[in-house]
Amino acid sequence: MKKILILNGPNLNMLGLREPEIYGSDTLDDIKGWCLEKANELGVDVDFRQSNHEGELVTWIQQARGDADGLIINAAAYTHTSVALHDALKTLDIPIIELHISDPEKREKFRHISYIQPVASEVIKGLGAKGYVLALEKLFKLL
Ligand code: DQA
Repeated sequence: MKKILILNGPNLNMLGLREPEIYGSDTLDDIKGWCLEKANELGVDVDFRQSNHEGELVTWIQQARGDADGLIINAAAYTHTSVALHDALKTLDIPIIELHISDPEKREKFRHISYIQPVASEVIKGLGAKGYVLALEKLFKLL
């Protein structure tokens, strides 16, 4: 069975409470539930994780080597700052989808740069929390 790793960065554990006018009212647990349902439908194994720590995300990306067949990452604020995540993702030779609930390019200028985009096969953004399910379908087709 193909294995897909879904990684979530800082503050995404606060979805539902955090700026609902931007991110909506669904929680990360709701999103995890939809992803597991879709995984079941597609016949893939999904490992869904969140961390507020950059180093932990780097370690998980390193561990995906030889283990995961595809990766979806919402690096949240680290998208716009983290050379470490960029470098870690660069070592992988599996399809990577960069995901955002909002469209960072339509927000503050400091969100316009992405260190993830140059190493991603596709970017899905601005589609709300349901973007996770679309990313899973898209990644499945790339496998
Ligand atoms: C986000 C967009 C980022 O700019 C922000 O820092 C986040 C969430 C999104 O999903 O829209 O935390 O990645």
